[in-house]
Amino acid sequence: MFSSSPNVDRAGRQIHFVTGKGGVGKSFVSCALARRFVDAGKNTLLCQVNARDSHSGLLGLRGGGIPDDLLEVEPRLTVLNLNPAQALHEYALMTLKLEALYRAVFDNRLTRTFLRFVPSLNELTMMGKLWFHAEEPKDTGLFASDRRRFDRVVVDCPSTGHALKLFSVSRVLTETVRVGPMVDKTRQMAAVWNDPGRTAVHVVTLPEELPVNETLELLGKLKNERTAQAGVVVVNQVLPRLFSKPALLDRLSDLGAINEVGRRRVQREAMEATQRARLSGCGQSLVEVPHLQESPLGPAHLHRVAALLGGFE
Ligand SMILES: Nc1ncnc2c1ncn2[C@@H]1O[C@H](COP(=O)(O)OP(=O)(O)O)[C@@H](O)[C@H]1O
Ligand SMILES: [Mg+2]
Repeated sequence: MFSSSPNVDRAGRQIHFVTGKGGVGKSFVSCALARRFVDAGKNTLLCQVNARDSHSGLLGLRGGGIPDDLLEVEPRLTVLNLNPAQALHEYALMTLKLEALYRAVFDNRLTRTFLRFVPSLNELTMMGKLWFHAEEPKDTGLFASDRRRFDRVVVDCPSTGHALKLFSVSRVLTETVRVGPMVDKTRQMAAVWNDPGRTAVHVVTLPEELPVNETLELLGKLKNERTAQAGVVVVNQVLPRLFSKPALLDRLSDLGAINEVGRRRVQREAMEATQRARLSGCGQSLVEVPHLQESPLGPAHLHRVAALLGGFE
């Protein structure tokens, strides 16, 4: 079920963005990837981006969903919902130091109205929080540490368009605003997303025409904009091949309905094969994940798919 071009190194990167068209399985793949890292002994941060709760069912968590600040839900696995208001609050507190001062400035109606019109402020503050945690050193008590708190960060991104905006916001800001306190930070952020040894953007797709079109388009944009490096393409929900010899079906012609079902399945498998062939020329390595019949999907499925994500360490 797993195929890859041999010389693409997926091992050792810290930050993994997972994106793709709505409903293709981004949340499922993000959780499976996080599961793989945790099981390999890596301290892992799994983030969803301003979503209601995409992960607790898959991870088998009970209780109040995914919180807006870090929560360690099992040894080595920390979850987070990146919420722009919470991220801005934390950033402002870090800068202004005092909660009372924060309230005076940010709970002020005028400031709030003003902030609503700052372009891409939400994206910037969420990426700022993400960057902060990606850089955060490991807390070793009194001693300074050169290790990071999180060995791996997996980000379950929104749809492809929004994901591109997330990556480009730091670069665009660096290019348009040339001085000021934010500029150094955004420049450092842009450098992290742009570092192919540290960050990759994985694209999830179904083996169907529209998601494959969107995937190829996104890969093209990532290449052109050079804001982040494309990682693997995950082809999700691939049907297992049932009919290797469609001609056999002719002999079943008197079985009417079964024959019809079989024919449709053959067509579907052929369509998937065409779309997978289109992807095979995209220059990224491909990971195929089978369509799982059981539902709802949960922790046991994550383990199965984590085992298929070869090459990620
Ligand atoms: N490999 C798979 N086999 C079967 N169902 C899947 C698979 N991957 C995802 N699903 C189902 O597809 C739906 C969408 O998946 P999800 O991860 O929420 O997508 P996204 O985050 O891209 O919107 C969910 O109901 C999920 O359980
Ligand atoms: Mg999702």
